[in-house]
Amino acid sequence: MDWGLRNRLNRIIRPETGRAVMLALDHGYFLGPISRLERPGATIEPLLPHADALMLTRGVLRNCVSPATATPMVLRVSGGRSILAGEDLSDEGLATSLEDALRLNACAVALSIYVGSRHERETILNLSRLVDEGTRLGLPVLAVTAVGKELEKRDARYLALACRIAAEFGAHFVKTYFCDDFQKVSGSCPVPVVIAGGPKLETEMDVFRMARAAIDQGAVGVDMGRNIWQNPHPVAMIRAVRAVVHEGASPDDALLLFEHVKRSAE
Ligand code: R5P
Repeated sequence: MDWGLRNRLNRIIRPETGRAVMLALDHGYFLGPISRLERPGATIEPLLPHADALMLTRGVLRNCVSPATATPMVLRVSGGRSILAGEDLSDEGLATSLEDALRLNACAVALSIYVGSRHERETILNLSRLVDEGTRLGLPVLAVTAVGKELEKRDARYLALACRIAAEFGAHFVKTYFCDDFQKVSGSCPVPVVIAGGPKLETEMDVFRMARAAIDQGAVGVDMGRNIWQNPHPVAMIRAVRAVVHEGASPDDALLLFEHVKRSAE
């Protein structure tokens, strides 16, 4: 790995702990203004100091994030379908150039691959092309193993296959979902794996338990969105998730910290 690429990756997966708390805010690229992302700038501002990196599109980055920030940006560069386009969301192309990613000083670029879908081949070849170009420019590539609306695909057998394929084609790190037997997913993927949070869980404890189990079973961190910023206390949430990821906090300790931060803000 060239110095620039390694340095960019080290700004996201922190060398002090080998872990990362990424904040995902890219949902609007196919979902539009979902709840709590209607005004992305207002959602981002209080959370920015607590995230190791943001994952977002160029439109939100340019319009809603201060260029004075030192927080690294992971730029989503794939897209092209919306939630209105029917069941099949897999027809994604490369929608943002790496020239623009560099212009925006992105630390990495992200694209979704849809393993097992109608457009599997195109999305995997897009990954390969992005890795060729990203490696040439020193930009790490994050492959997201998208499952679209088929949530039942989120088992260890499917996710291990999808993550492994992402790594085989050169992804520098991979984002996937947590599942039972997650060690099968992380253990057969030769590059770092972070987990998405998925739709908002019922309780904060559910989120802390998922993050703890993912780290214990080999994830290097989270790239979490809705379970942080759709919580009524997003700063308390991200701080508690950080404690789990970076400090080895138990779910009980994370809940105590969550309650403490929540009370101090009231
Ligand atoms: C989905 O394709 C997007 O990349 C989101 O960034 C991802 O789902 C993570 O966000 P959440 O934790 O809300 O699932």
